[in-house]
Amino acid sequence: MYFPIHSGSHNGAWNECVECHTAEGNFTVFSCTECHEHNQSKTDDEHKGISGYTFNSDACLTCHPIGSAEGAFDHNNTNFPLTGAHTSVDCNQCHTNGYAGTSTLCIDCHTVDFNQAANPNHTSLSLSNDCATCHTTQPG
Ligand code: HEC
Ligand code: HEC
Ligand code: HEC
Ligand code: HEC
Ligand code: HEC
Ligand code: HEC
Repeated sequence: MYFPIHSGSHNGAWNECVECHTAEGNFTVFSCTECHEHNQSKTDDEHKGISGYTFNSDACLTCHPIGSAEGAFDHNNTNFPLTGAHTSVDCNQCHTNGYAGTSTLCIDCHTVDFNQAANPNHTSLSLSNDCATCHTTQPG
């Protein structure tokens, strides 16, 4: 599905392709914040309480694939609301292979942390892989 520019909210909102495709001639590059940046504080305000919000064009498009408020994506409505340290982690760090099918199991992303935990040594104590029985998403 392409981002609609001849219908919806962006119909008539632009004059030249370069307003979105900021690297002239390269249509794979686009910016949302070029226009919406003049209102960063307004945009931030409009997203109070929306899990996963960041002021970043790729993120804008992911949550607003057709540039409308209706049907916008909110991480709170998935099985994995972003809490604690996760609210400030880059989307790409978790979505290394795209968005669909991302595991919600702590161990799938934190295997290295588990293996390296020295105090206490998690592997030698054979602690459970179900991190959430002892840890939250807060650092420490
Ligand atoms: C309001 C913003 C906006 C405007 C204006 C706009 N585009 Fe786009 N365009 C996008 C976005 C966002 C994508 C990426 C869509 C996606 O990946 O789903 C895109 C994708 C494209 C692509 C596909 C790029 C690829 O991945 O191969 C082409 C080609 C393109 N636009 C051409 C144009 C042309 C030509 C114009 C001017 C007539 C234009 N666009 C104006 C937002 C815009
Ligand atoms: C050329 C300037 C421009 C660019 C670039 C642009 N927008 Fe917009 N956008 C507007 C204008 C103008 C409106 C309508 C007024 C408003 O709500 O701020 C709007 C409205 C919106 C809305 C609210 C629509 C509604 O239903 O109320 C969303 C969501 C949005 N844009 C997302 C995006 C995304 C995602 C991108 C990048 C892919 C983008 N915009 C790029 C100018 C732009
Ligand atoms: C994590 C998902 C997410 C991200 C990232 C995100 N939004 Fe939104 N946005 C939402 C949700 C959810 C709403 C509320 C929709 C509703 O009113 O039901 C919203 C609302 C909006 C609105 C309409 C506000 C209103 O009240 O009319 C605009 C404009 C908008 N976003 C633009 C942007 C822009 C520009 C970016 C990137 C800088 C962005 N959004 C990033 C999820 C997101
Ligand atoms: C700490 C890890 C983490 C971060 C950071 C994160 N996500 Fe996610 N995301 C997940 C997990 C896990 C799921 C799967 C949730 C489920 O199965 O319901 C998911 C699901 C999604 C989905 C739904 C995919 C689908 O098709 O079902 C989207 C879209 C998404 N995330 C977008 C984002 C965006 C955009 C950002 C950054 C603004 C972000 N995520 C940041 C872990 C993360
Ligand atoms: C989809 C991948 C993913 C899943 C699932 C996930 N995390 Fe994370 N988490 C991350 C990434 C990426 C970071 C940031 C990089 C880092 O600190 O390892 C992070 C950071 C953290 C941090 C902060 C570490 C620090 O010291 O700054 C804690 C605590 C945490 N996660 C706990 C959990 C718990 C508990 C679960 C299960 C409920 C979980 N995570 C599930 C990807 C994930
Ligand atoms: C049975 C309870 C328990 C389980 C299950 C558990 N942990 Fe821990 N973990 C602890 C305790 C207790 C500490 C020490 C906390 C402190 O020092 O404040 C700790 C500390 C850590 C540390 C820091 C270690 C260091 O050397 O600094 C990491 C990283 C960690 N855990 C990751 C994980 C991961 C990832 C999982 C799941 C795969 C997990 N833990 C499962 C109890 C547990």
